Amino acid sequence: MSSILAVTNAVKLQWPEHATFIDKRFDQNHEHLFSDTSEQVAAMILRLTGSDLPQYCDDYKWMCGNIFQEEVFFRKNKHYRLSSQKEAYEKIYNNPDYMSRYINGLLLSQLLWSNQTAVIDYFNKKFLHRIKPSSRYLEIGPGHGLFLSLADQSGKLSSVEAWDISQSSLASTRHALDTLGASDEIALKAADVTVPNPTENKYDSVVISEVLEHLDNPSAALKSLMTVMESEGLIFINIPVNSPAPDHIHLWRTPEVFIEFVQSCGLAVLDSACFPATGHTLDQARKRDLTINVCVIAKKR
Ligand SMILES: C[S@@+](CC[C@H](N)C(=O)[O-])C[C@H]1O[C@@H](n2cnc3c(N)ncnc32)[C@H](O)[C@@H]1O
Repeated sequence: MSSILAVTNAVKLQWPEHATFIDKRFDQNHEHLFSDTSEQVAAMILRLTGSDLPQYCDDYKWMCGNIFQEEVFFRKNKHYRLSSQKEAYEKIYNNPDYMSRYINGLLLSQLLWSNQTAVIDYFNKKFLHRIKPSSRYLEIGPGHGLFLSLADQSGKLSSVEAWDISQSSLASTRHALDTLGASDEIALKAADVTVPNPTENKYDSVVISEVLEHLDNPSAALKSLMTVMESEGLIFINIPVNSPAPDHIHLWRTPEVFIEFVQSCGLAVLDSACFPATGHTLDQARKRDLTINVCVIAKKR
């Protein structure tokens, strides 16, 4: 049985009402564009979840329920519920039970939501392909650890470091690295990207995926990260527009507004791509204010 089938069968068993969504996800015309990545992500998920796969499916269902409540709030109020990082920290990042279930759910969404898989595909084929050999790599908010593990496995890094604000997230990242056979030398640090970092280190490649929308002041965080980037270094940024979630603070409403924001921080955008929510075209997602993931590869101007 393919890894995709093994994961999706387990989810359907735990949550039969989700079968229609899953079938739609894997029946899209564009799936052939990244089916190799879907299979790779599914295989990683099977290794990471092991015999606990049913629990992860339950956590995924729980996470979707929480996101649905935020979706209802967003449709009614046209803004996200939380307005400060402090609230998100108290409610979520500093709540180990909530956080570990949330990260488990997010792990499964990397396969089950086409926009998430498409982002990983882009990261793999465009960003990791583009960074220079022997890169010194820094990732912010690695969470489930899939991006960090793929970067580590690329064979292009001479050093790897990651910072995350949540201890539960760091435990999930460590589990991913250990299970997927990463080197012991990867430095995981409990750190808040919004607090200017005392590090003397410089990095050739920096990754910040699905983190900026969690911050009060994403511009300050991006500018602070730019101070630790080498002048020719590359940054990979991924954010979802119109994407209500329990810990999302900063709302960008269109991909264009986000790209302008990145440029206004002093970055030159070298490449970008948009990936709409599962089951929708980009046009539909734009018209209905649905989630669109926006990926950017940039360097300092
Ligand atoms: C939505 S998850 C993203 C996981 C993964 N990077 C991805 O793209 O799927 C957000 C991660 O960022 C971390 N995070 C949130 N705010 C942060 C901050 N201020 N500094 C560092 N990490 C943060 C969270 O703990 C969590 O692990």
